[in-house]
Amino acid sequence: MKGRIPDHIVEAVLSRVNIVEVISEFIPLKRAGRNFRALCPFHQEKTPSFMVSTDKQIYHCFGCGAGGNVFNFLMQFERIEFPEAVEALAKKAGVVIPENLSFGAKEPSGITVQLQKASEAAASFYENNLSTPVGTHAREYLLKRGIPQEAIKTFKIGFAAEKWDALINHLRSKGVSLSLMEKAGLVVPKEGGGYYDRFRNRIIFPIFDVKARAIGFGARVLDTSLPKYINSPETPLYIKGKNLYGLWLSKDAIRDLDAAVVVEGYLDFISAFQAGVRNVVASSGTALTAEQARLIKRYTHNVVMVYDGDASGQIATIRALDIFVEEDMQVRVVSLPQGYDPDLFIRKNGIARFQALIADAQPLFDYKMSVLKSRYNSDDIEGKEKICSEMLPTIQKFRRPVVKSEYFKKLAQELKVKEEALLQEAGLFHAAGKEYLRATSTSLGTQKSIHPIEKFLIKLMLEEDTIIAELKDKLEPDDFQDERTAKIVALMFDCVAQGKGIEPSKLLTHLGDTESTRLLCESTFLPDISGEKRDKILTDCVQRLKAKKLSCKRQRLQEEIKDAQESGDEERLHTLIAELDELIKTR
Ligand code: UTP
Ligand code: MN
Repeated sequence: MKGRIPDHIVEAVLSRVNIVEVISEFIPLKRAGRNFRALCPFHQEKTPSFMVSTDKQIYHCFGCGAGGNVFNFLMQFERIEFPEAVEALAKKAGVVIPENLSFGAKEPSGITVQLQKASEAAASFYENNLSTPVGTHAREYLLKRGIPQEAIKTFKIGFAAEKWDALINHLRSKGVSLSLMEKAGLVVPKEGGGYYDRFRNRIIFPIFDVKARAIGFGARVLDTSLPKYINSPETPLYIKGKNLYGLWLSKDAIRDLDAAVVVEGYLDFISAFQAGVRNVVASSGTALTAEQARLIKRYTHNVVMVYDGDASGQIATIRALDIFVEEDMQVRVVSLPQGYDPDLFIRKNGIARFQALIADAQPLFDYKMSVLKSRYNSDDIEGKEKICSEMLPTIQKFRRPVVKSEYFKKLAQELKVKEEALLQEAGLFHAAGKEYLRATSTSLGTQKSIHPIEKFLIKLMLEEDTIIAELKDKLEPDDFQDERTAKIVALMFDCVAQGKGIEPSKLLTHLGDTESTRLLCESTFLPDISGEKRDKILTDCVQRLKAKKLSCKRQRLQEEIKDAQESGDEERLHTLIAELDELIKTR
């Protein structure tokens, strides 16, 4: 269990760091009046809609809705959890966090550190083996595969000797316990007691996390025997779906070039990187996960997939495409000739031709379409139906309605069918099919929008505590129709009742749900209004809110009255009518 961080620490950190300084360490901010502006790091855009407020210590993107305080920014940008974000900023701000609060990693940090040390020790042991006589075969094998000494060093490639206890003995001499070796996935328990080395007579590819710490291993045979690779099992350090092989070496290049080349194998990574394609990562065999996509997204939104040129590479590619689309990333695909993987292609044809393939990669729609057309006959009805049912789910995953509707159009053209028919297939073409097309080209999100009056009141309340006090006399939180607004209002009323001042960035730490966070951040950046005009609007808003509540109540009562009439419940009918009378009078 991670310890809960006390509010006073969270607040101390918040008051000592400046969100503008923190964010500008990651992205360039430009001054815009009292605020700062930038291209949003969380979605792709050409004109900046990402705003940072010095006064409120909050950021918000009007394009994608991202927003929050300085902790939210770090969590979102660095993909870390709240405690880690607090910890990182506390360090910066010189706020001391008591030792007994274990946060940061989800595991107690003790075991993580120990596993780390065991893995590092194993990695050095294997690496060292490769340069000693036991590693002769392995060196020859690597040489034969065109992996030079320099690459061996860069990737810290190693060798596990053909012995059952070489690593066990080595690590034991370093004071690592067997149970720790087991937890690190380095040894396997024997039936009837004892342990043996997991990796034997294999080339070792250590797997590092983005901070270049050894967390696991991939181990390849030197011949054609099976299994080709044995990998570390999942451990508290090494969670396969959350790592990408090679990212520790390529992340800077990925950021600089604003693109990542995704390959399948360890050796594909090594060949490409060694030959000069520095922005490469390997998904290492497993089906690509959303978490891996998000890991790439920290550095770039642009991906070029280069999987093996065989049926399984094609299937894995198609699956991964949807994941990238869901993450709102731009993805293109290189199809290698049958029988090739990137490693073989580079060795046979040279890096320049590989680079050319990457530059020429197909857009995802075109790629998937050509694969589907090679599988099904797009001229007959059955084929159209098949292609349609595989293509539509992908199209549906695009977030931007405009993009979605362009792809509907394109698919309709490709299949020579009516666009309306496709929309109908997609369950989008009700009687209001045309309505949909029109609506999608203007509205962005699918979220229920919040009434401008409520948004505006939130903004005013954020500005001055006296307004909150004033409104507290006139309104209840549930006078606000929207539950997201009501939640924020209740929180502000609470703060004021406790005599606390309102600081938007601190409120956020109590809000939790993302929709209210978004609303609060967005309200912060609404245009300012002051003086008499503001007072007028304020009074007007309160009245309208009340009126709206009354009319809702009235409508509800009328419906209930109708029910009571139909069911012949005289008594209930009387009470309801009395209530309605009362309601009309108060108006
Ligand atoms: P490949 O079979 O394409 O291996 O599997 P490779 O890395 O290109 O190796 P060479 O070129 O044949 O020597 C791609 C990836 O799938 C995983 C590994 O991560 C491998 O790099 N894999 C493959 C396994 O985990 N286990 C296996 O038995 C095979
Ligand atoms: Mn391969």
